[in-house]
Amino acid sequence: MSIQKVLIVGASRGIGLEFVRQYREAGCAVTATARADEGLARIRALGATALRLDVASAAGAAALAWPVDGEAFDVVVLNAGVYGPRSTGLQTPTQDEFDAVMHTNVLGAMRLLPQVAEVLAPGARLAVLSSRMGSMGLREVTGGWLYRASKAALNSVLKDASLELKGKAICVAFHPGWVQTDMGGAAADLPVSKSVSDMRRTLAALKPADNGRFVNHDGQPLAW
Ligand SMILES: NC(=O)c1ccc[n+]([C@@H]2O[C@H](COP(=O)([O-])OP(=O)(O)OC[C@H]3O[C@@H](n4cnc5c(N)ncnc54)[C@H](OP(=O)(O)O)[C@@H]3O)[C@@H](O)[C@H]2O)c1
Repeated sequence: MSIQKVLIVGASRGIGLEFVRQYREAGCAVTATARADEGLARIRALGATALRLDVASAAGAAALAWPVDGEAFDVVVLNAGVYGPRSTGLQTPTQDEFDAVMHTNVLGAMRLLPQVAEVLAPGARLAVLSSRMGSMGLREVTGGWLYRASKAALNSVLKDASLELKGKAICVAFHPGWVQTDMGGAAADLPVSKSVSDMRRTLAALKPADNGRFVNHDGQPLAW
């Protein structure tokens, strides 16, 4: 498919900013969001339209509606996410830790998906940045169980969106790999440029039958 208009939510740095960079380099019109001035400036410096958005805030998420009203995006990526406590084993998170991770990673998507559903071009590709850490089928270790729970919940949210948008858009949950970003750390095995170029290629190649899948950055299906 020819991708012309792109919306990236959570693009101040890391994977989100790299999506902006690569789609701009490919000549796309890109709208991208960040919650602070530094991130907005980085987005603008790449020639994209920058919108202020904190996905953990109800008012912030609602504010996305009017700036994108009337748009028809070929690709939408909901990328914003936080890891939360680096727990090992069964360490109960505090209420604040729980709320911060769940509000950003899950409630944020539940606030934004109904809005972005209104601004999709026919056959658009809609992706959420999940994680293999959210997979129950592939799970063998327990570190970061709050993050894991949030990504498992995000996968559920994506699945429902895919059922609602069937025939209108192709929706996937991505595992981007273990990526060299602030979240992934320097020891991660995948440069951010490679993770994002793989995901862009995968998005462009998606078929209607892929709607509602959990996929690796390179397009390989993953177990929920
Ligand atoms: N890196 C990995 O190895 C890896 C692996 C699996 C999945 N993922 C997922 O991939 C996505 C991107 O990860 P990354 O590695 O690029 O992480 P990162 O470098 O930590 O960047 C996270 C991004 O999310 C934004 N964000 C966080 N909370 C937000 C909020 N309340 N409102 C709006 N934006 C918010 C951050 O904005 P600020 O600058 O304002 O904080 C930043 O742009 C995340 O969903 C992550 O869970 C990453």
